[in-house]
Amino acid sequence: MGCTHLSLPTKALGYREIFINLEKWLCEITGFNAVSLQPNSGAQGEYAGLMVIRAYHASRGDHHRNIALIPQSAHGTNPASAVMAGMQVVVVKTDEDGNVDIADLKAKAEQHSANLSCLMVTYPSTHGVFEEGITEITNIIHQHGGQVYMDGANMNAQVGLTSPGNIGADVCHLNLHKTFAIPHGGGGPGMGPIGVAAHLAPFLPKHALVETGGEQGIHAVSAAPWGSSLILLVSYAYIAMLGAEGVTNATKYAILNANYLKARLKAHFPILYEGKNGTCAHEMILDCRNFKGAGVEVADIAKRLMDYGFHAPTVSFPVAGTIMVEPTESEALHELDRFADAMISIREEIADIENGVAAKDNNVVINAPHTAKLVVADKWDKPYSREKAAYPLTWLRDSKFWPSVAKIDNAYGDRNLVCTCLPMEAYENEEVTA
Ligand SMILES: Cc1ncc(COP(=O)(O)O)c(C=O)c1O
Repeated sequence: MGCTHLSLPTKALGYREIFINLEKWLCEITGFNAVSLQPNSGAQGEYAGLMVIRAYHASRGDHHRNIALIPQSAHGTNPASAVMAGMQVVVVKTDEDGNVDIADLKAKAEQHSANLSCLMVTYPSTHGVFEEGITEITNIIHQHGGQVYMDGANMNAQVGLTSPGNIGADVCHLNLHKTFAIPHGGGGPGMGPIGVAAHLAPFLPKHALVETGGEQGIHAVSAAPWGSSLILLVSYAYIAMLGAEGVTNATKYAILNANYLKARLKAHFPILYEGKNGTCAHEMILDCRNFKGAGVEVADIAKRLMDYGFHAPTVSFPVAGTIMVEPTESEALHELDRFADAMISIREEIADIENGVAAKDNNVVINAPHTAKLVVADKWDKPYSREKAAYPLTWLRDSKFWPSVAKIDNAYGDRNLVCTCLPMEAYENEEVTA
């Protein structure tokens, strides 16, 4: 189990102590009994958690339980992990408000009752809403002998306020590279530990060389016993320094920041989903599909944001043609305002196209981003000024990020390998000095 003692070389014992403390804290945060620090990412955590569920069913003779119910709104890694864990995916509908369609869930759970392995559910949902029916959802699954896998990618909206254990989940992963301060810009490295309720603890992953995991543990899910153990120190320090009150405040600020942005942007962009009080959790979805008439796609908005100095938030997930904004607790009010000002300004630029003030096929939005090379070139043939292209808001004068690459054709680039190195002929007359 998560908290076993080991015979390790002395110099590793300090690390081990840190891992034991971190496991303990993550148990408290998740409301679970044991944690495995082995999985290296959220997706690997999903795989590990589902294999644990599979081993649990098998230990009770329920080898046949292999149906994973997964809501339509789930992250793509959920069905992928279920298939990798040997399960069959059955999709559950989501209703108009973006919540799990409970009637459909009930029907599918009943239909597959004998073979139900689990439900994978993200809470708060990928639509940025705390599902009102979450405990009803977990109860339905348990009534049919299934287990509840809670995708913990959105734990930023839970820590200190509620927990997977509290809503009746049996296992969840935590994206330490999202919720617990490990920076993951550029794609990694990450850590996706799983937490489990007591009845699943014996099945946590073991390791061939180092004693860890449960007595009936599944095989290792990563090469190292504690995954990318070095970066666990970041999460350890984050929790140690903030303490219980600090991590809870982080959650409150994350939710507050999202709702502040929502309040500032709702008059300018339709917000796709919200809770019954008109609030969101820690993120919200801005609908950008209405701008197609003006010839503006969501990717154009993302690229125009670069001219304003922003890397765009998530584009086209979980709903195509939208932007999902998750400001987190880390952004100061000033930074949130800068982002809101940029989005509102882009919305005005789109309105100019809608009103015929700017040409549909040649405007500041669809031509974005504007590089320094383009803006300082002797020739400028755009129907708007250089100033509008590069300095659309005044604060950009103090702090301007220059995109280094102008508009590219994403789809072409995805489908064609384009080599930017010199052709072989360029080396023909090179002298070999060695
Ligand atoms: C809801 C959800 N689930 C799972 C994952 C997978 O996490 P990872 O990228 O660490 O594999 C993500 C990642 O963005 C996510 O948003």
